[in-house]
Amino acid sequence: MSQTVLITGAAVRVGKALAELFAFRGYNVILHCNSNFDAAKVLASGLSEKYPQALFPVVKADLSNPIAAAQQLFDTLPEGISSIDVLINNASVFEAAQLSETPYELYRRQMVINLDAPFFLMQAFYNRFKSGCIINILDTRVTNHNSSHAAYAIAKKALMHLTQMAALEWAPDVRVNAVAPGPVLPPPGADNSHLQRVSENTPLKSTVSLDNLADSAYFLVSNSSVTGQIIFCDSGAHLIS
Ligand SMILES: NC(=O)c1ccc[n+]([C@@H]2O[C@H](COP(=O)([O-])OP(=O)(O)OC[C@H]3O[C@@H](n4cnc5c(N)ncnc54)[C@H](OP(=O)(O)O)[C@@H]3O)[C@@H](O)[C@H]2O)c1
Repeated sequence: MSQTVLITGAAVRVGKALAELFAFRGYNVILHCNSNFDAAKVLASGLSEKYPQALFPVVKADLSNPIAAAQQLFDTLPEGISSIDVLINNASVFEAAQLSETPYELYRRQMVINLDAPFFLMQAFYNRFKSGCIINILDTRVTNHNSSHAAYAIAKKALMHLTQMAALEWAPDVRVNAVAPGPVLPPPGADNSHLQRVSENTPLKSTVSLDNLADSAYFLVSNSSVTGQIIFCDSGAHLIS
């Protein structure tokens, strides 16, 4: 029977690339989304056509209430799915504000989506299944002290430590790993020029391809000897932080 992966924020961009790779690898993919429900449905029907033997249910849940979202995602599974083998915490919000300029509301939004939601989805996944594998999507910023997106960066740094803490507590039942991407795509609505400038400053002087990023996540899922690991898929950016 096919294995099942649940990917948060799977309708577009990085989440969509992860969904496409895991579908290609023979997984059922539960496509979580929030505002991009229509895009998730289009992705699901494209994947169903390409991989008719697998299931691609779409589940809409607002992660700004992590407990309600965890119940929605794990208490009742989509039709035909009896278990979830892999959880990928990909959904994120990314807002610029230095420490001195971060309003409480922005701080809370960053924390709740980038840290609280993964925390409680991981907890629900572990308590429900007691086996399988979790991947958290971090950011190469976890290694530096750049405060241009202070609350976002702090949330991702905490998520890195949560990854390692959970890897230790939940071994040998559940493996927990992370991928820390560098410049992949410009933020929604922004143009490519900023991304090009950032990637020129990486050691490899290139953006990170969606394929390489998705492959990193798949490697961590497929390698049963690895837990508590972080792959920096970032064109070497972490080396110069
Ligand atoms: N893009 C990059 O270059 C880059 C670089 C470093 C790290 N990363 C990390 O890689 C991951 C994916 O990046 P991305 O740029 O593809 O992310 P993104 O487009 O900013 O966000 C991914 C998804 O998160 C979901 N999301 C946001 N708020 C939500 C909420 N309240 N409830 C439920 N879902 C919510 C959205 O789903 P809906 O659209 O359905 O609302 C969105 O499509 C993130 O964890 C990010 O931090 C990305």
